[in-house]
Amino acid sequence: MKAQDTTDGAAALSFFSGWTYAPAPESSDHIRLQDRYGLFINGAFVPPKSGRHYVTVNPATEGALAEVADAGEKDVDAAVSAAKRAYERTWSRTPAKERAKYIYRIARIIQERAREFAVIESMDGGKPIRESRDVDIPLAANHFFYYAGWADKLPYAFPNRSPRPLGVAGQIIPWNFPLLMAAWKIAPALAAGNTVVLKPAETTPLTALKLAEVIRDSGLPDGVVNILTGFGKTGAALVAHPHVNKIAFTGSTDVGKLIQKAVAGTAKKVTLELGGKAANIVFEDAAIDQAVEGIVNGIFFNQGHVCCAGSRLLVQEGVADAVIRKLKERMETLIVGDPLDKNTDIGAINSKEQLEKISSYIAIGVNEGAELHQSSATLPSKGWFCKPTLFLHTSQSHRLVQEEIFGPVLAVQTFRTVEEAIEKANNIPYGLSAGVWTDKGSKIFNMTSKMRAGVVWANTYNKFDPTSPFGGYKESGFGREGGLHGLLPYVHL
Ligand code: NAI
Ligand code: MG
Repeated sequence: MKAQDTTDGAAALSFFSGWTYAPAPESSDHIRLQDRYGLFINGAFVPPKSGRHYVTVNPATEGALAEVADAGEKDVDAAVSAAKRAYERTWSRTPAKERAKYIYRIARIIQERAREFAVIESMDGGKPIRESRDVDIPLAANHFFYYAGWADKLPYAFPNRSPRPLGVAGQIIPWNFPLLMAAWKIAPALAAGNTVVLKPAETTPLTALKLAEVIRDSGLPDGVVNILTGFGKTGAALVAHPHVNKIAFTGSTDVGKLIQKAVAGTAKKVTLELGGKAANIVFEDAAIDQAVEGIVNGIFFNQGHVCCAGSRLLVQEGVADAVIRKLKERMETLIVGDPLDKNTDIGAINSKEQLEKISSYIAIGVNEGAELHQSSATLPSKGWFCKPTLFLHTSQSHRLVQEEIFGPVLAVQTFRTVEEAIEKANNIPYGLSAGVWTDKGSKIFNMTSKMRAGVVWANTYNKFDPTSPFGGYKESGFGREGGLHGLLPYVHL
């Protein structure tokens, strides 16, 4: 970047100064993957009774990384039985402060192996190494550290309520934050004294299998955590298993609805973290350059594969032109490409199916009459990639505004008054998160109290912390993960 003279004499930063970056790929030489993985049941890797395996690929190269097992019903039964046995014979009798030590040990080993985890996460899922290295893996370790602290303090978390564990927790997670979602699920379950059967998403099983190695190395008693790779059918069998006492799910709203139907009439407890379509709201009194950074982070972080992504921009009319001009300039600087390159801002789309879904939404947006703008980035010839994209002149009834795309596609709307912003922000089926950009603290409090969103960020976006609860309203699901609130779904009171 270089300083450029502007007409009023002040120096402005030019993003068009033609800096190019030499490739800076993170090495993957140190990564050791087996050709073929079994299922992690009762403390050991075992071949699947189903006899089936499938290949997990690197979405940036389309190349095979490893074969993983596709767990069938008998495998699910073996894992749930191991978890039930471990709960009854070992874990429910393990003193709380001993439970804490294991969880703490898992956190420490993740930290020690952070580099390996980060590289595998980027290879298997396509996210930029800068994100897996600086966000996913450290946050995953932090979740284990945080909940290790709660394990022997549950009576203080729920004073006079005698918290008791539930038993076996079945946990099903998506592909956008594979290790982090595993940590969000496993850490509070163990802290509260439950045992676990976890199913990672089909396209991103590898860091969960590496986590299984960590769990084995931590000395956690056999069967306390079991990890089953597989597809939706494996997840459905886990949901249906009679000895599962609790289901925790993160993923699409469609599957969330199926799960809720499947557990209706049973004693199973459920939490659902589903989709989102968050409004990032920029007022005229906001610090515009910071807001533009927040918009970029909100929609382009992790290729937009984020349930709380700021996928709708609501910008007040007086600053709309300036914000959109700066946003387009900033989009030009985003580097799309090799997830393992430390310069990369936007990595690979997680799967071919997801890229098709995003492309179909881009076509829908054009058909609905919105104005398409994409950065001029060149995309790698192999792998699944998508240019940073925005749509101008969208309206509230557009599918682009109402539906979750889960890609680097931003729908832009304008507004005039605070009331109009709140109305537009709330008038969708989802309610997971939102962002507000303004100079006025009073406006922030007014907005946060009126928006139906689980998390509202003010003058920042996508900030996560293990101490802070996260979860949705409406079709974004129910239950909270993180913080003290995140223990509640794992205890009887
Ligand atoms: P999905 O909801 O099908 O997959 C999430 C997890 O649920 C995976 O582990 C999958 O194997 C499992 N699953 C699938 N069917 C199941 C069933 N009947 N019973 C139990 N478990 C089941 O999500 P998918 O198909 O990967 O993505 C489709 C769309 O969903 C995305 O385009 C995105 O819009 C949304 N999505 C939202 C996520 C979020 O965090 N809010 C995460 C992933 C996807
Ligand atoms: Mg993969």
